[in-house]
Amino acid sequence: MRGVIEGLSENGMGILRAGRRELLVPFTAPGDVVVVRRWRRKKKLLIATDFEVVEASGVREAPKCPYFGACGGCLLQHLPYREQLAFKARKLFELLGIEAEVLPSPVIYGHRNRIDVVVSTSGIGFRRIGTWWDVVDIEECPVFGEASRRVLGSLREFIEDHRPSLYNIKENSGFLRYIVIREGKFTGELMVNLVTSEGVLSEEVVGYFDYANSIYWSVNRTQSDVSYGEVERFWKGEFIREKLEGVTYLIHPNSFFQTNSYQAVNLLKEVANAVEGEKVLDLYSGVGTFGIYLARKGMRVEGIEINPFAVEMATKTAELNGVEAKFRVGSDREVESLSSYDTVVLDPPRAGLHPKLIKRLLRDRPETIVYVSCNPKTLAENLGSLREAYKVESIRGLDMFPHTPHVEVVTKLKLKV
Ligand SMILES: C[S@@+](CC[C@H](N)C(=O)[O-])C[C@H]1O[C@@H](n2cnc3c(N)ncnc32)[C@H](O)[C@@H]1O
Repeated sequence: MRGVIEGLSENGMGILRAGRRELLVPFTAPGDVVVVRRWRRKKKLLIATDFEVVEASGVREAPKCPYFGACGGCLLQHLPYREQLAFKARKLFELLGIEAEVLPSPVIYGHRNRIDVVVSTSGIGFRRIGTWWDVVDIEECPVFGEASRRVLGSLREFIEDHRPSLYNIKENSGFLRYIVIREGKFTGELMVNLVTSEGVLSEEVVGYFDYANSIYWSVNRTQSDVSYGEVERFWKGEFIREKLEGVTYLIHPNSFFQTNSYQAVNLLKEVANAVEGEKVLDLYSGVGTFGIYLARKGMRVEGIEINPFAVEMATKTAELNGVEAKFRVGSDREVESLSSYDTVVLDPPRAGLHPKLIKRLLRDRPETIVYVSCNPKTLAENLGSLREAYKVESIRGLDMFPHTPHVEVVTKLKLKV
């Protein structure tokens, strides 16, 4: 099948129309002429698996990463950054029916502060696009930056010297499975977390990563293919630190942190600008990223979060920064007295707000809601319900994830009079 790519789908792939069918072709740009030989069905989508760009569109630029086109991590590196932003703004308009500016990330290479690298018999790197079983072997991830080359080099040396068995993905066997690398971009602190199945990790591993500020060994005792495990032990620091706008945040292998530190600064400012009044609820507070920043600005903050470990981290971080914010374990389904807050900040997971929470918001009607969303689809659904009592006062996209189709959105809602 041959044709011209008309535009980009919501998930960042080129759209090729063939009769009544729509094929999605990864790594293509509007205007590319492509020949597609094979495709597969994924849910309702048809995704090209064997294709060729026979005439390249003038819109393209050279991707920085040598693994672009094989690695499934980045889909848009071949598009100039302004085109990526325009794509994200269009996506927001299509999903939300509102024109929203998308704030560019201040840095578009070396911005990611975390990568989860598979350590497998088929390679050390990221999944090949469209597969769960194959890995593109990498020496560096330009989206993370220089430190990835150093850490992956050290890992290869360790493997060569000590010969641990590596993850065989298809058979779900092997000892060494993932290496998660995290870096405080504003502190320069580096964490390496080796995730294994049960077994013995040579203590000599520490010598290979002696430049890291924190080295962890985590054990995944489940059958699941995840880059996460119970901490077996750690060497050097228990945490690394990241510093955003004067606030010091602690990072632990098992805690979430916004993955683009440079743009996280803008996200904090955006949220703070939207908040009104003094008493703020930070719901889905995670490690307290927003709450602690707002408390430092003088607001009285309470945070609610379902993960007890994240709450522990938030409490520790609040203490470290000398702020009064109070975090507690709780579920979005059970929050009460929302009317007692001037502003409720919501930062739910991709699934969006629980229907019970929406009901409570519509019953208690806090004056201002600041909704931070990483999924404009569920945001659109939730806004549909909240519009019964709220109007959108402002909305802004932020590009937290350059080269991917994802976009973060901060929406300020005010109670209708
Ligand atoms: C997108 S993250 C928000 C992180 C936080 N704002 C930050 O920047 O660190 C969503 C958070 O919601 C929490 N969560 C998930 N389900 C929840 C629920 N039912 N009730 C409360 N929190 C929940 C997750 O544990 C996670 O920390």
